[in-house]
Amino acid sequence: MGTAGAQQFVRWGLRHGILRRFLVRRARSGDVGARIMIDPELREDPYPYYEQLRARGRLVVTGLAPTTVDHGVCTAVLRSPDFGTGVRAPSELPALARTAVRLSSGGPLSPGEPPSMLAVDPPDHTRYRKLVTRAFSARAIAALRERVVRIADDLLDAMAAKAAAGGTVDLVADYASLLPATVIAEMLGAPVTMRRQFLRWGAGAGLALDPGLPYRDFRRAERDVLALQRWMVGHFDRIRRSPGDDILSALVAVHDEDTGHDDGRGLTDDELTSIAMLLLAAGFETTQNLLGNGAALLVRHPEQLARLRSGTASWATATDEVLRFDSPVQRTARMARRDTEVAGTAVHAGELVVTILGGANRDPAVFADPDHFDVTRADADRHIAFSQGIHYCLGAGLARMEGEIGLRALFERFPDLALAAPPNRRPTRLLRGFDAMPVTLGAAVSRGRGARAR
Ligand code: HEM
Repeated sequence: MGTAGAQQFVRWGLRHGILRRFLVRRARSGDVGARIMIDPELREDPYPYYEQLRARGRLVVTGLAPTTVDHGVCTAVLRSPDFGTGVRAPSELPALARTAVRLSSGGPLSPGEPPSMLAVDPPDHTRYRKLVTRAFSARAIAALRERVVRIADDLLDAMAAKAAAGGTVDLVADYASLLPATVIAEMLGAPVTMRRQFLRWGAGAGLALDPGLPYRDFRRAERDVLALQRWMVGHFDRIRRSPGDDILSALVAVHDEDTGHDDGRGLTDDELTSIAMLLLAAGFETTQNLLGNGAALLVRHPEQLARLRSGTASWATATDEVLRFDSPVQRTARMARRDTEVAGTAVHAGELVVTILGGANRDPAVFADPDHFDVTRADADRHIAFSQGIHYCLGAGLARMEGEIGLRALFERFPDLALAAPPNRRPTRLLRGFDAMPVTLGAAVSRGRGARAR
């Protein structure tokens, strides 16, 4: 192992290895909080374990961190100014933690660490978010609708052709992942020809969001994030030579002009790269789970699909029900910025609270018969799958539209779609979806009929 390898090993140890040992030990002793994070047995179906937590209270002090599956408590914590992302500047840390940060520095930019938008508090968060909000406004998304329909139809054509030629169709690789990857690449002005490469890098980056990674996964995550980062920096040079009318060109202009914002600062190199990488990866890493989870649920619940096909249920509500029932982002966390109280329990400054969005979305205090998948559920949109508070998903409107159009177009074209083999769950915990779903398409309904129905 060379110097870079040794540094990477130290980084792994400090960021994941020590925590991994702790989590494995706690999980073996039966700690549900730790098992949810790390136990392979829970990957397929974590929901019964969320119910174990619910039975113990609204905020449960597990051996790991206070954890909640309660809709009201999750919402309150995520919206509370008493909580932040928890990543503090090195200068604010105690000496030992400062040393650990110094020793573990040197890796690629991580989606879960500053200056990632997900991992910073105001004022930096406000400054980043202002730069990109308009591109994701309801108006901007509505203008993309026809284009998304077209992309879905083209992918379905390609799938039909593949099946006709005797190939095995994988609903994740051939549709659920390519649809959002194509849409976000076009929005950002990134080459659509690279969408499969982006997906491979994104899958590695997605690993980095889980705590206590084994060394092998950590190496893969760093390798893929670094490759995406290098590509992005090269892409900025291409933009400088020939800027377009797209989001990345606008961000590069802000960085290069240093025009200043309310606080007089433009974007640093790392801020620019981090925002661009997050927009690209968040644009498909999660939506592909929505489409994959939705397809699997509808194939397994033909009575629900029949309601959608007969027009007695709406695809928009069905999309929210998929987001509620099998949330693509299962959890997030916040750190107390000061001593406070949550659901009657004292939480001290610096303490982390784990908010399990996938559990909150099955809260019986909010959703009647929550373990029942029901595409006519009137209040399905009360889910918090897009989080709450200042980090509420920037792409929620886009994701909802892609989910609605993507699922509808799929089942209108292939009403007899069936699983050819059990789908395979992704290895990630925080992100919940499938990475393979072999299907048979059945007879196709002609493209014209689906398009008219829209
Ligand atoms: C079904 C699809 C999606 C789901 C379930 C989802 C979920 C989430 C969640 C839960 C958060 C907040 C995490 C937290 O509070 O710690 C978030 C933030 C974010 N999402 Fe999404 N997302 C989806 C699609 C998208 C899309 C299509 C984009 C487009 C670029 C996107 C961009 C972002 C960004 C930039 C943030 C950070 C916002 C901030 O920190 O202010 N997401 N998303």
